Amino acid sequence: MADDPFALFDAWFAEAQASEPNDPNAMALATADARGRPSARMVLLKGHGPDGFIFYTNRDSRKAGEIAANPQAALLFHWKSLRRQIRVEGPLTWATDAESDAYFASRGRDSQLGAWASDQSRPLADRSTFETRFAEVQARFDGQDVPRPPHWGGYRLTPDHIEFWQDRAHRLHERRTFDRAGDGGWTEGLLYP
Ligand SMILES: Cc1cc2nc3c(=O)[nH]c(=O)nc-3n(C[C@H](O)[C@H](O)[C@H](O)COP(=O)(O)O)c2cc1C
Repeated sequence: MADDPFALFDAWFAEAQASEPNDPNAMALATADARGRPSARMVLLKGHGPDGFIFYTNRDSRKAGEIAANPQAALLFHWKSLRRQIRVEGPLTWATDAESDAYFASRGRDSQLGAWASDQSRPLADRSTFETRFAEVQARFDGQDVPRPPHWGGYRLTPDHIEFWQDRAHRLHERRTFDRAGDGGWTEGLLYP
């Protein structure tokens, strides 16, 4: 009987939240374009559970374009002081509007205004152009709640492969893998380090 990878993720994530000084929820997100050329960047994990791992971003960004062309991705957590990494792979879908609305509403006002002001991943002539745009949206939404921009929302990665890597003495590192089985459960394995 395989262990539950989500319970193991929860346990490791809780330890990271207790010990990492900054952004224990930071993870590298790897995508690839239609020609198979990969790219990676950091994003923040903002929700997780048996139905997937959620992050939020601009849906007109470079990553969003790559996801539209090739909706497969990988996530990588590395908690240096714990000497652990977790690799997560699978297809991506949009989070629901309700999820994106709820998370957007929970953000600080400056982050909300920034989401309106930023054309993420597009060329920017100079820093002052962004500051001017930020001032414009500040004025536009003055005295009212900032709504979620139509181009901003969440993505859910539904894992079909998860690997837990733990540093061990004498380079006998431990690698535990979980692959989604046909019945919806998980097949557990070990890999040579
Ligand atoms: C620690 C860290 C966390 C980040 N979190 C996010 C995030 O949650 N969402 C996001 O859109 N960008 C985030 N960024 C910025 C991205 O790394 C990246 O610059 C941006 O999303 C544009 O990526 P793209 O051009 O590949 O679409 C984060 C950067 C760092 C260093």
